[in-house]
Amino acid sequence: MYIVWKIFQIIQAYFICLSAQPISPKIHDGWWAYKDAVQGSFVPVPSFWGLVNSAWNLCAMGKRQSPVNIETGRMIFDPFLTPLRLSTGGRTKMGGTMYNTGRHVSLRPDRAHLVNISGGPLGYSHRLEEIRLHFGSEDGQGSEHLLNGQAFPAEVQLIHYNQELYANYSEAAKSPNGIAVVSIFIKISESPNVFLNRMLNRDTITRITYKHDAFLLMGLNIADLYPDTTRFITYEGSITIPPCYETATWILMNKPVYVTQMQMHSLRLLSQNEPYKLFLSMSDNTRPAQPLIQRCIRTNIKFSKQGRDCPNNRALRPQYRVNQWLLK
Ligand SMILES: *[C@@H]1O[C@H](CO)[C@@H](O)[C@H](O)[C@H]1NC(C)=O
Ligand SMILES: *[C@@H]1O[C@H](CO)[C@@H](O)[C@H](O)[C@H]1NC(C)=O
Repeated sequence: MYIVWKIFQIIQAYFICLSAQPISPKIHDGWWAYKDAVQGSFVPVPSFWGLVNSAWNLCAMGKRQSPVNIETGRMIFDPFLTPLRLSTGGRTKMGGTMYNTGRHVSLRPDRAHLVNISGGPLGYSHRLEEIRLHFGSEDGQGSEHLLNGQAFPAEVQLIHYNQELYANYSEAAKSPNGIAVVSIFIKISESPNVFLNRMLNRDTITRITYKHDAFLLMGLNIADLYPDTTRFITYEGSITIPPCYETATWILMNKPVYVTQMQMHSLRLLSQNEPYKLFLSMSDNTRPAQPLIQRCIRTNIKFSKQGRDCPNNRALRPQYRVNQWLLK
């Protein structure tokens, strides 16, 4: 069945190439989707991203793509990983604009409010550019990264760029050591994360129901979004949307944060479209897991099972267990 489907995909891709003339006007930065449209014209879903636009070759041909499935048994304990440092220049509160981009819930901090991260696997200070939410139509799916094959209901990604080497996000995204993404899994509980509660309470989330809707939030404290842990998992990967540049260092926190069932429900009621168009839920806005190939997954969690040694990286004998919260 899989083979048949794959062949079908190849034929379809071939057809797209043949018919390049009529569709070429469509090839632009925004011509991609997570899932097939209910009706109407073809829009490339993840398995096509790398085939429809030569600038997006990495999406198909890349060797360090994201997201990935984290096999905890393969993690390498790296004793040289220091804790991540979060810096807000002494100002704890920031403002930001929350958007419905048609694909994600996105929050961009005000230009006036600098938030930096450094330490951990990062050799440079990285500035927060955007906070992005991925979530599922059901609780069993929604996160981009998987843990031992399991998805979480949602994943929040804090996207930073290297502000020491690059002038802005767009320049950094295509350059070495350009991007650092802190990823936090989201689970469901009746006591939600303080920061996410500000974004997802009914009054706020209903203001961004449709594509291009935006809403200003003030008095946010970015530290509230982080779970109470210094432990993380890190690997070298890519941006998870086209053009899939392989410039991202991923840092997956070892504890989830929580949203309520009601807040999950509100997320699923967001539309990918403008108000005058068909309602199409934004949920399941996730790229499938990509092959890990030869990459190392490093961690500062000391764990009991020994992973395979990475080249040039001796693992110490680990002692503690991976956080039970995350494993469940
Ligand atoms: C962020 O890092 C840069 C470079 O290290 C530094 O100049 C700036 O003051 C930092 N900003 C904050 C808010 O910590
Ligand atoms: C980003 O920086 C580069 C190099 O300085 C510049 O050419 C480009 O216009 C900037 N882009 C944006 C979106 O500001």
